[in-house]
Amino acid sequence: MQNFVFQNPTKILFGKGQIARLNDEIPTQARVLVTYGGGSVKRNGTLAEVRAALAGRTVFEFGGVEPNPTYETLMRAVDLARKESVDFLLAVGGGSVVDGTKFISAAVPFVGEPWDIVAKKGMIEQVVPFGVVLTLPATGSEMNPAAVITRKASRDKLGFINRMVYPRFSILDPVKTYTLPPRQVANGVIDAFVHVIEQYLTFPAGAAVQDRFAEGLLLTLIEEGPKALVSPQDYDVRANIMWCATLALNGLISAGVPQDWTTHMIGHELTVLYGLDHAQTLAIVLPATLTVLREAKRAKLLQYASRIWGIATTDEDAAINEAIARTRGFFESLGVPTRLAAYGVSAAGIPTVVEQLRRHGLLALGERQAVTLEVSERILALCA
Ligand code: NZQ
Ligand code: ZN
Repeated sequence: MQNFVFQNPTKILFGKGQIARLNDEIPTQARVLVTYGGGSVKRNGTLAEVRAALAGRTVFEFGGVEPNPTYETLMRAVDLARKESVDFLLAVGGGSVVDGTKFISAAVPFVGEPWDIVAKKGMIEQVVPFGVVLTLPATGSEMNPAAVITRKASRDKLGFINRMVYPRFSILDPVKTYTLPPRQVANGVIDAFVHVIEQYLTFPAGAAVQDRFAEGLLLTLIEEGPKALVSPQDYDVRANIMWCATLALNGLISAGVPQDWTTHMIGHELTVLYGLDHAQTLAIVLPATLTVLREAKRAKLLQYASRIWGIATTDEDAAINEAIARTRGFFESLGVPTRLAAYGVSAAGIPTVVEQLRRHGLLALGERQAVTLEVSERILALCA
């Protein structure tokens, strides 16, 4: 295991009815900007509950943060926050609203062009503190310091990671996820699953505890994910999925182990070029990544085959094939196709994706920086 520092400052308030606790978590005198998405939180009553919890305070609202939040939209929120001297933000929604709010948090006090926070990893000296009311378990953004922002004009979808943008607190009420459409339930399960895989399926690092944590999350997602589609109002199912998604990307399982974010990096380019949902891109790319990198990942693929899918490893190559096939089958069983063609994207588009990777400097991905553009191209060819 490599050396690591583990510190996560986000406070989690988990369970039914926790939105009422907002009143204790946000300073009484704060000028609060509530951010939300396209309106699901209005329709399902979450926003009303937030308004009730903040009754009597100075509260502004900014709606319309879109999936894969854009710089263009978020800058309008930055203008509003500056104009109204907002000093606390509250994101109410899924990962896009949370990520967008992280950008707003850093951009409001930023001197200069805020896009530099994303594109040039600009130094953040101050932030507007923020909290989260999460409605979609998927990204882990509610307990991590990362955000992914899209700039439409230049077709960039880029992440930034900065310790200053950890949420102060996140409220995770599984009841708020009951209204998710099946597509978003499946997306969330797949996103969390792939987050675990990208911190687990590399090479053995002597990290037995992290491996077992990761395997526990994968097995729970495999068991509970399909249940959420069948029984959308089962509290325990929703609660377990929600907690899995948070633990999948809050630093717990990545401590001291190698990571491989190839699938995510290629996936972001597919989203920005073709508008696919984040998790759809992962469902397409992950099986191809594992196939192309099967020799480098051999030992962990065999562990994955045995411990997650119960496949006997007497014939190693057969076991790896089967593990990859079962992974693909799991995504498909949730209703998410795993081939580009199913989304109307033809192989003719692959050079454009590779060009985007080149433009974004993604030339040496993977746990050993061995995923060159040529390797990414081979992965993409298998996605067709
Ligand atoms: O916009 P509204 O109307 O709220 O509807 C949303 C949206 O259409 C809807 N939704 C959310 N909660 C709902 C609901 N509908 C009914 N009931 C509810 N309770 O779901 C749709 C998708 O929402 P979105 O927030 O876009 O989804 P998700 O949470 O999957 O976030 C995706 C974004 O997160 C980034 C992705 O790249 C993408 O931009 N990621 C962020 C990460 C991070 N910060 O660490 C890591 C991830 O790998 C990921 O890259
Ligand atoms: Zn993701």
